[in-house]
Amino acid sequence: MNRIGILRGRFDPLTERELEYAKNLRRQYRLDLLILKAEGEGVLGLSEREALLKQALYPYRRLVCGNDVSGAVIDAVCEEMDEEAVRTGSFRLAAQGIRKALVEKGYYLDAVLDHQCKASRAAHSRAVADLCREIAEAVGEDAELAWRTGMLHDITKNRPEEWGRRILEVHDPLLLAMSPKVWHASTAVVWLQQEMGICDRRMLNAIRNHTLGLGKGVLDRILYVADKCERTRGYDAEKEIALTKQSPAAGAALVYEESAKYRMNKGEVK
Ligand SMILES: [Fe+2]
Ligand SMILES: [Fe+2]
Repeated sequence: MNRIGILRGRFDPLTERELEYAKNLRRQYRLDLLILKAEGEGVLGLSEREALLKQALYPYRRLVCGNDVSGAVIDAVCEEMDEEAVRTGSFRLAAQGIRKALVEKGYYLDAVLDHQCKASRAAHSRAVADLCREIAEAVGEDAELAWRTGMLHDITKNRPEEWGRRILEVHDPLLLAMSPKVWHASTAVVWLQQEMGICDRRMLNAIRNHTLGLGKGVLDRILYVADKCERTRGYDAEKEIALTKQSPAAGAALVYEESAKYRMNKGEVK
């Protein structure tokens, strides 16, 4: 007869430590099958958590996602390990098989933003993300990728200058010669790669280029314009937005020119 166990948990999402716990539990009780059952309220709905569970457990023949069965040898509850950390940005702690899916589906990005940024920065990022999506749709670019790029573009902006300096000393020392105001474009790329496991070059390049506006890719230009023209900034930039929807290159060039003039008038550029 098969020895079956049940492990219940929120699994929002399943983390690497929880997966290890499940593997050990199965070995300890010499189970032929351990069923992981997602239950309770979560940031993600039950069906999304179950889909992630299935994906994470796919490589393990004796661990499955499922429901209650009669005759279970053990019925245990999995204590949450690292789930909160994953939901606030440390995707590297999620079960290995689902890290990419978390990024690609844009899961938890609201919580990541609220945890990593001040409220005003999070609001700006949401407005940028919405405008990125709107422009991307108009020009036939990947709209969800554009939205995620907007959400994450300022993710390290509220970190202390010293933290930024330490990152740049290792990863981008030439940038230290420039104003600390632009450092976050580069530190964000390092953080997104290391903490969230993001490796999409289009997103990372757009974020790296968003402060100086020198990027030549379509997503680079969309993010650059959306960052400057998002609708909570309090000035009318509909002309620039409309032009970018027709031609991202022309829109970005116009915004670049206007921004240079503005900085010149403010005395920031001599
Ligand atoms: Fe920025
Ligand atoms: Fe920004």
